[in-house]
Amino acid sequence: MQIIQEISPSLYWVGASDRRLERFENLFPIPAGISYNSYLFTDTKTALLDTVDSSVTQQFLENVRQALGGRPLDYLVVNHMEPDHCANIEALVRLYPDVQVVGNKKTFLLFSQFYEMDIEQNKLLVKEGDEISLGVHTLKFFFAPMVHWPEVMLTCETSKGILFSADAFGTFGALNGNIFADQVEYERHFLGETRRYYANIIGKFGTQVQAAFAKLPIDSITMICPLHGPIWRENIPFIFEKYRLWSTYTPERRGVVIAYASMYGNTEAAVNKLALLLAQRGVRDIRMFDLSRTHISEVVGEVWENSHLVVASPTYNMHLYSGAANLLDDLSALGLRNRKVAIIGNHSWASAAQKSMEERVCSMKDCQVIASMDIKSTLKDEQLGELEALADAIAHSVE
Ligand code: FEO
Repeated sequence: MQIIQEISPSLYWVGASDRRLERFENLFPIPAGISYNSYLFTDTKTALLDTVDSSVTQQFLENVRQALGGRPLDYLVVNHMEPDHCANIEALVRLYPDVQVVGNKKTFLLFSQFYEMDIEQNKLLVKEGDEISLGVHTLKFFFAPMVHWPEVMLTCETSKGILFSADAFGTFGALNGNIFADQVEYERHFLGETRRYYANIIGKFGTQVQAAFAKLPIDSITMICPLHGPIWRENIPFIFEKYRLWSTYTPERRGVVIAYASMYGNTEAAVNKLALLLAQRGVRDIRMFDLSRTHISEVVGEVWENSHLVVASPTYNMHLYSGAANLLDDLSALGLRNRKVAIIGNHSWASAAQKSMEERVCSMKDCQVIASMDIKSTLKDEQLGELEALADAIAHSVE
């Protein structure tokens, strides 16, 4: 049974969703699943844009076969050579031996690293700005290195302004029949996951995202077809604005994320007191996470949204407790910039957490430690004034 949807005359969504996979990239929890999108033009020439993950191969191949209606496949455009999108290139070349596989030098280099098949006879090497006419439709290729891998291309269908955006504008979350963003309550059900996806997967490459967007005819784009998640055909400036903020490391809101690690509840008690002090000083909608319970990718998404971060952690093995170390190391690896951070260390017999956290934060570009304190095992009344001063500094900075 084919499960396909025409999204524009002679253009079909032929992808599929996976709701069984526990973790995307064997790393990120995806409780609402994930979609792998693929798109097929049935113009004078036929062209498929990207394939899907091996987990949904059977459905995908059935979709392509039905959508082609017995016609051959003329082009397979490979915008992204990561296995969640290219797992079916070999199968398609076997099914359609005359297909021209469209990619750049890096695409084919990666293909040869991942796969054994010789596709030399099928290769169609393109350069930046090259075009392929399908009849009514024309595909133009824009190289977008490091959005999210070095070979990534964005393909623009120029007659209608349809952008095939690879991982950009993608999100975690399966497609549940409503394959367009305007058919779902996007801000309620998808925006948080879109941000988590961006921050954790593309977040490191904000400069490259900006460079890629600078090449695109943004004003003429009428539809965005990403490789994961809903298709955009309305309110396109909304999602472009989100990407502008995220890729320039600009917080979306003045707000505080409190991320803490706590072994016996004493560091947790200190941040509970801090949260109350912040609320009393007018800070709204405080986000608080136990780093031993919440997956780090969730916290990273929250940090991308908010202007301020509080990290609290005990000293452990004369080092930083792993939950806090993992968060700060991950934020550093993702190239986080432009955040105000407050630090609360805790120790019983050797203080290391506070200094370690301060050093990590100071190594991140345009990130500043605005307040810092260390407590001894538990927060006592004599340190309440210090905590109030820390709350004052945060609240004043958030205003
Ligand atoms: Fe969805 Fe970078 O792969």
